[in-house]
Amino acid sequence: MAKEKVLVTSALPYANGPIHLGHLSGAYLPADIYVRYKRLNGDDVLYICGSDEHGVPITISADKEGVSPKVIIDRFHEINKKAFEKFGMSFDNYSRTSLPIHHDTAKEFFLEFYNRGILKEKKSHQFYDEKAKMFLPDRYVEGTCPNCESEDARGDECENCGALYDPSDLINPKSKISGETPVLKETSHWFFPLGDYQPNLEKYVNVMNEKYGWKENVMQYNRSWFKDGLKDRAVTRDLDWGVKVPLDEAQTKVIYVWFEAVLGYISSTKEYSENVGEPDLWKKYWQDSETKYIAFIGKDNVVFHCIIFPAMLMAWNNGEQKEKYCLPQNVPANEFLNFEGKKFSKSRNWGIDADKFLELFPADPLRYTLAANLPENRDTDFYWKEFQLRNNSELADILGNFINRTFTFVFKHFEGKVPVLGKLEKIDEEMLNEISEYPKRTGDLFERYKVKDCTNEIMNLARDGNKYFNDSEPWKTIKSNKEKCATTLHVCMQAIYTLAELFSPVIPYTSEKLFNMLDAKPVAWAKCGEPQLNAGHQMNKAEILFPKIEDEVIEEQISKLNSEKSELPKEKDELISYDEFMKTKLKVAEIISAEKIEKSKKLIKLKVKLDDGERQLVAGIAEHHQPEDLPGKKVVIVANLQPAKLMGEESQGMILAVEKKDGALQIITVDNSVKNGTRVK
Ligand code: 2FM
Ligand code: ZN
Repeated sequence: MAKEKVLVTSALPYANGPIHLGHLSGAYLPADIYVRYKRLNGDDVLYICGSDEHGVPITISADKEGVSPKVIIDRFHEINKKAFEKFGMSFDNYSRTSLPIHHDTAKEFFLEFYNRGILKEKKSHQFYDEKAKMFLPDRYVEGTCPNCESEDARGDECENCGALYDPSDLINPKSKISGETPVLKETSHWFFPLGDYQPNLEKYVNVMNEKYGWKENVMQYNRSWFKDGLKDRAVTRDLDWGVKVPLDEAQTKVIYVWFEAVLGYISSTKEYSENVGEPDLWKKYWQDSETKYIAFIGKDNVVFHCIIFPAMLMAWNNGEQKEKYCLPQNVPANEFLNFEGKKFSKSRNWGIDADKFLELFPADPLRYTLAANLPENRDTDFYWKEFQLRNNSELADILGNFINRTFTFVFKHFEGKVPVLGKLEKIDEEMLNEISEYPKRTGDLFERYKVKDCTNEIMNLARDGNKYFNDSEPWKTIKSNKEKCATTLHVCMQAIYTLAELFSPVIPYTSEKLFNMLDAKPVAWAKCGEPQLNAGHQMNKAEILFPKIEDEVIEEQISKLNSEKSELPKEKDELISYDEFMKTKLKVAEIISAEKIEKSKKLIKLKVKLDDGERQLVAGIAEHHQPEDLPGKKVVIVANLQPAKLMGEESQGMILAVEKKDGALQIITVDNSVKNGTRVK
């Protein structure tokens, strides 16, 4: 097969926190395995990645710590780069989007679109924090959800009911920076007309799918975006952290992080080219129609890589320059990896970061465990017990055992030299045949990004090696038929050679040790199933490749997880003084009337009577109490709460209620003999 020019990218991780195992199995390990396979296949491969260092996730982390974004990105760029190295990621370049080379690239694209009149300026009203003197990105605003009225809802999306809305729809919006109520202020932004590209994008995605077989999950995301119809996307933001918009009139704006992060793949390739002393080399990958560009990502990034980035490249390519960029030929996005049955969560302390894991265990058992269970078609889970099992019962007991028993036998009876291949019996022929078929079988799987199936298939060769060893009974033939025994061991050695190469993309550190033991080197992938070891070739002594992981070690990790879980932030029992308690005026009030607030599922408007007159309350109890049951009831209210407006109605206090086990709310009542206005103490 003709050699291919392959450009591979993995999503640029945000440098606002350490990467965890979920990241590794989504966009990184499968790409690295694919890249390592392609290199052995003799293809011309360039593998590019780097840190995504702009955007609100970074500024939020910086605000939380009270440091500048630069402190955050410097810290996590280093941590993640080192963790990737330890994990065996074989990037050709790992760049940073904060570098000038990236800023220049992003500005070049922006100006190209601006100068050609592609970008449209539109005015809109956005929340502005007058105290902090800044426009507030969606994630910097919170308030009460306009749909379910849950409090502390995010600016653009309610985590409680999943509703998506505009921040200006929030009830009681507050700036997360100053806590002040933000005001709506006019601003203008530049929009990329994504909708104009929809026909061409659909064509592109469908042609690629037909030609190269895109994953079904990826196609489903694409179809649903197309079905909803692509809309103009704002590509600027009012922020001061990011790539500055290169226009005089937009000094306070930056380019939207997603609009420049995807260009980070190009700028990282440029940086690589400079580092190797061939500044134009990047064009040979990005601007050559022969290039096969494969973008590895997680499922949350599909729209950016299958729709937005291709649209940007199409827009560029429609221009007059000769240089045209190549679009992704495939985007093998993975689903998510969960951790012990739940989503990874920093705030709930659930999961383990890559750097921490690699302080405890070597990379290969983790690579193998993740590879054998990749979330290629559905979400999967990492379990500590499974990790132990994969190491002890597969790597050690199947692969390690096959290698070890063969080496031990060859050193004991054949002076550590590859024995001579004698007359072949059926069993030997079958085994040699199987070995010879493996490179093609596994190569076909890797070519289709079926890394999980391929990993499991390679382990089957080690399984079959053990079976062949058992069935051939060399411990008997060494006494009865030494030539036959030599043949068996010769075949086993060839199988080990093939395994060393086939497994090298998945467990590269072990593969290297194994090649040292064999005193041999890898060959082209297609040839590694052919006999590579001559009779008489001297091997080096075997070393233990996969030490077993003891139960205690795994138990310790699991118990740590549980104890960390119990250390989750609890409601703090902070003590208050009697005086502080007495500041809250709890009083008995009689409900006079009650009616549901239209347009709200939860709210009821109440009139209540105290000793000093009547007042109106708005209470979120409609799902648990019928309005007609309420009049006449004596309830307890907070009488000195600052008035607030809920769905346009003023609430002058709060009614007390308890939440029962089943989630039902029960208002607290006292009997009718208690006088209205009586203080509850
Ligand atoms: O989801 C993320 O972590 C993003 N930082 C991925 C960016 S991929 C590309 F656009 F750079
Ligand atoms: Zn909601």
